[in-house]
Amino acid sequence: MSLLTSISYLLFISLIPTFTAGQLLFQGFNWQSWKKEGGWYNFLRNSIPELSSAGITHVWLPPPSHSAAPEGYLPGRLYDLNASKYGNANELKTLIKAFNDKGIKCIADIVINHRSAEKEDGRGILSIFEGGTPDDRLDWGPSFICSDDTKYSDGTGNPDTGIGFDLAPDIDHKNPRVQRELSDWLNWLKTEIGFHRWRFDLVRGYSPVFTKVYMEQTQPNFAVGEFWNSTAYWTNKKPEYNEDAHRDELVEWVQAAGGDVKAFDFPTKWVLQTAIEGELWRMNDSSGRAPGMICILSGNAVTFIDNHDTGSQQISPFPPDKVMQGYVYILTHPGIPSIFYDHFFEWGLMEGITKLAAIRTRNGINPKSTLRIIASESDLYVAVIDEKIIAKIGTRYNVTGIPPTFQVAYAGLDYCVWEKSAQE
Ligand SMILES: *[C@@H]1O[C@H](CO)[C@@H](O)[C@H](O)[C@H]1NC(C)=O
Ligand SMILES: *[C@@H]1O[C@H](CO)[C@@H](O)[C@H](O)[C@H]1NC(C)=O
Ligand SMILES: *[C@@H]1O[C@H](CO)[C@@H](O)[C@H](O)[C@H]1NC(C)=O
Ligand SMILES: *[C@@H]1O[C@H](CO)[C@@H](O)[C@H](O)[C@H]1NC(C)=O
Repeated sequence: MSLLTSISYLLFISLIPTFTAGQLLFQGFNWQSWKKEGGWYNFLRNSIPELSSAGITHVWLPPPSHSAAPEGYLPGRLYDLNASKYGNANELKTLIKAFNDKGIKCIADIVINHRSAEKEDGRGILSIFEGGTPDDRLDWGPSFICSDDTKYSDGTGNPDTGIGFDLAPDIDHKNPRVQRELSDWLNWLKTEIGFHRWRFDLVRGYSPVFTKVYMEQTQPNFAVGEFWNSTAYWTNKKPEYNEDAHRDELVEWVQAAGGDVKAFDFPTKWVLQTAIEGELWRMNDSSGRAPGMICILSGNAVTFIDNHDTGSQQISPFPPDKVMQGYVYILTHPGIPSIFYDHFFEWGLMEGITKLAAIRTRNGINPKSTLRIIASESDLYVAVIDEKIIAKIGTRYNVTGIPPTFQVAYAGLDYCVWEKSAQE
């Protein structure tokens, strides 16, 4: 090899990770995090070395603004980041900078479907909002609330374009001033606080037309929406249940919101947690594909096992003894996997998750990897991903058909991952 060829070869090798690196998300809080003594932002800073070693690329942080509920999901004075139970604005900025120094990006939790009002409007109804600035930004009144709000009936805005929310007034996103001032606030989070990525809360609460507006007006580097159709799957575990409608709905939402925004892959979670209890045939749909959103639009699907709602509040959590099998699935499959704080730091799964993430990274498995399912029966699921790794979950151990060129890379109770030997 000539010197020049060697140099370009080395350059090529060193560029490979940039081409193949996928995103690996981490939900950096749970429903109790606001109670942490000394503040959650300060506490989470100590976790950065472990998250960096696991190859985490993005950390989702809790809603940052003043809120009527301590967890942050009933925000009021959006510009006031000092009244948050998680810490103050300076502590948040310090945390974001510390993550950025390790190459990890932060995602802000954006709660804009509804908003907590600050004062009564003269008729005994709480509908006067304050923005948290000395000027009148985000200082709104009844005309900014949807006219059909079920709980705050004095709203005089347009009818709601999505589902209603009962704990706070639903905001009228058709109002141009709402669109302008919320976009300005998001852009302020970028320039003043250092967030460049969003997780949109409760996006079924307003039309995807408005998600598209906020995407266009704020140009985040990454965004994911929580499109949660509450009872769609887990109340319907019948054998004939067809998940097509549920995942199609997510894909339609992504497209109506402009096509760039991602969505949490709820169908993958619901089907997987049902299938893992001896019904693994569910992991192969009627066309031989995965049952989740990952089979249609995997580049936009954020897969997860549990979060601050399903996990912390036990709203249909994943079977606890089978969570590692869940991670084997999402960390080997297409989609953008997201790891939950509790599983990584409180359940003793850090080592296993870190190993699975390393297998994913070194084999270049990415959101759009190719999936080939080779077994999907009650007690066994086996799939080949990108023809580079093979993943198995289920209680059956006499698995046949693993090519001799593949070696066990990581195995545990009821799961195994093989990868092609390095010589291949
Ligand atoms: C937070 O409080 C500090 C100190 O009082 C102040 O300088 C800053 O402007 C406040 N920032 C936010 C975003 O609330
Ligand atoms: C989503 O929820 C709505 C009710 O809010 C229901 O009409 C619809 O069928 C659900 N979608 C699926 C796929 O179950
Ligand atoms: C998956 O399901 C399809 C359609 O029912 C079937 O043709 C195929 O054999 C199944 N694949 C596996 C590996 O079980
Ligand atoms: C593997 O086990 C299953 C049941 O657990 C059985 O039906 C099958 O015959 C076994 N296959 C081999 C190759 O031993």
